[in-house]
Amino acid sequence: MIRDSKQSYYITTPIYYVNGLPHVGSALTTLSCDVLARYQKMKGKHVVFLTGTDENATKVQQAAEKVGVPTMEFVDGLATAFQECWTDLHIEHTDFIRTTEQRHVQAVQEFFRLLVESGYVYKDTYEGWYSVSDETFFRDSEVKDGIAVESGKPVVRVQEENYFFKLSAFTQPLLDHIEANPSWLLPEFRKNEVVSFLKEGLRDMCITRTNKGWGIPVPGDESKVIYVWFDAVINYLAATGWHENPNWAEAWPPDVHFMGKEIFVRFHATLWPAMLMALGLPLPKQVYGHGWWTIGGQKGGKTGASLPHPTRLAKFIAERSGAEAPLAVDALRYLLCREMNFGPDTEFTVENLLRRFNTDLANDMGNLLNRTINMMVKFYEGIVPEVTTPDADIVALAGEVRAGYEQALSVFRLNEALEVAWRLVARMNKYIDEKAPWALSKAAKAGDAASAEALAQVLTACLEVSRIVAVLVAPYMPVASKAILAQLGYAHSDTAPLWEETAWKGLPAGTKVGPPQPLFPRIQELTVADDILFALGSANPEPTEKKENVSKVSDATTPIGTPVPPSPPVDPTADYIGIEDFAKVKLVVAEILAAEPVPNTTKLLRLTVQASEDDTRTILSGIAEYYTPEELVGRQIVLLANLQPRKMRGIESQGMLLAADVEGKAILLQPDKSVPIGSRVR
Ligand code: MSP
Repeated sequence: MIRDSKQSYYITTPIYYVNGLPHVGSALTTLSCDVLARYQKMKGKHVVFLTGTDENATKVQQAAEKVGVPTMEFVDGLATAFQECWTDLHIEHTDFIRTTEQRHVQAVQEFFRLLVESGYVYKDTYEGWYSVSDETFFRDSEVKDGIAVESGKPVVRVQEENYFFKLSAFTQPLLDHIEANPSWLLPEFRKNEVVSFLKEGLRDMCITRTNKGWGIPVPGDESKVIYVWFDAVINYLAATGWHENPNWAEAWPPDVHFMGKEIFVRFHATLWPAMLMALGLPLPKQVYGHGWWTIGGQKGGKTGASLPHPTRLAKFIAERSGAEAPLAVDALRYLLCREMNFGPDTEFTVENLLRRFNTDLANDMGNLLNRTINMMVKFYEGIVPEVTTPDADIVALAGEVRAGYEQALSVFRLNEALEVAWRLVARMNKYIDEKAPWALSKAAKAGDAASAEALAQVLTACLEVSRIVAVLVAPYMPVASKAILAQLGYAHSDTAPLWEETAWKGLPAGTKVGPPQPLFPRIQELTVADDILFALGSANPEPTEKKENVSKVSDATTPIGTPVPPSPPVDPTADYIGIEDFAKVKLVVAEILAAEPVPNTTKLLRLTVQASEDDTRTILSGIAEYYTPEELVGRQIVLLANLQPRKMRGIESQGMLLAADVEGKAILLQPDKSVPIGSRVR
């Protein structure tokens, strides 16, 4: 009943935790899938593109509690914020699943029931470490000083009677599957990580938690809820209508599960395929793990090393460049896919994006189009001339580029596909310089027939390459692609172009081209001040007033760069610093997780502090004479987070806590009431 040569192409993003707004990290995964989905549509496939939200996690419940909003109301607001953001980014998913929906809950419970029946799920007592932040259990060997070594997140000791999944039974079957399917896990180096992980041997996994009023209850045992990861991965199957809709297998198995590296090894390359094996269901055909956007080498996220909100960033690009809003969104889509190394991590900066906007879009592509169309208007009044033979070298290069683009996307290297396409753009800009059409036109006007023929050949080659590039970029920049094709007078229906249209065919003689309309005006100001970066960030979902509906914070419409009112007169004798100087100082609220004296010193304490959800670091502080380690653990402090790290006593201190200096004694500064970790102090 399960067809392997299905006509449909099924692609999935991870489902996003609704404990904060989307940012360019979550957007990268969704956007990549959108590009791949559009590419498959171009190739004539019926595409099923699933995304959604992961709502049953303890950390989601905690985030709701922190802001005093009922959990369901909280998740509704954020699920809407994700959906709106994807619409703003021109994402064309075919389904959006929420794990609080009945179709998901029922599928999870059915899956669980079947595993109990098959003997792969059994009851036992679990004692061990659990990280709420990672929603993951850790072994003793994976925990040091109350911190999970892998993620740097705090863990708590739990002991409960629970249900277990016989994951240990799947070590060898998974290794066998990897060996028999060399391109199942990509990229290659991440596959090797999975193999090493499996070779350590899998242990059975505790897959339930005590029911604290949030999560999917274990069927027949309401005192427990199903472990959120066990529940979450089933979304991919639930969305097909598995166990309810007789046609569910039309989409199954997925062609690719696409995700960031942190959820690749344990969950998508191990747990999920083992769960499917346990029920005898076909495995996804490919699983791909991309790297992270990092800021200062650390994973960028919603707090701490904060990444911009995608919609705000697109608006900012529109404001800076003067591009129309939908084109600025397309530019952002291009820039994120082009800047990211689909493999290792990539350092994120807005300035890098702006720079690439200028080089790739305003200059390279913009120049090719504008020069081509302007010359067409000037030399041929915009009417495509007859040409007998196209330039064979350019035709050959276009063919190579087409193949290179296909090859890059077949292994999910979205940046490389663009890089390959831009080889053609660069070649044509050079070609125009070399062939000097203006000189050919002059000679042609003076009656030289060879020059007239050459001019037609050069300009039709430029037109054809522009058309091919516009089709190649359609999955990345659907709106811009249409706008370019329209300027080229290329007759196409309202639907996106098809892959066949990337082949060389030439615009028919007589086609009316133009008028030229620059789509991506050059950005003049490339530097981005810290306060703007801060305003672009994906803020925590804290409503300004308690109990305000969380969906209000999804509003990313506040204009960036709102004019600053005139400053009051300044006292020239005062020792002022400007607000831009203060904006350079990154102060955040952090929590002390652990404290211990530094051996052989009387003054220094070594503190482990959590500066954001994803940022745990070590700082050294000279407060040992005023505070004992026990007094400090659990306290909130104000941390200077962007102080240049420095080594003292062989230990690197990654920041500084703030204290009042009272006659030489340190008195710690802390917020008036408990606030979310990572909150900015300004
Ligand atoms: N809910 C789980 C996934 C369950 S799938 C059955 C989860 N959610 S998440 O919201 O924390 O992250 C989802 C995805 O966002 C990550 O896999 C990753 O693709 C993406 N990113 C989050 N931060 C990122 C960066 N800093 N950089 C790139 N992508 C990042 O994990």
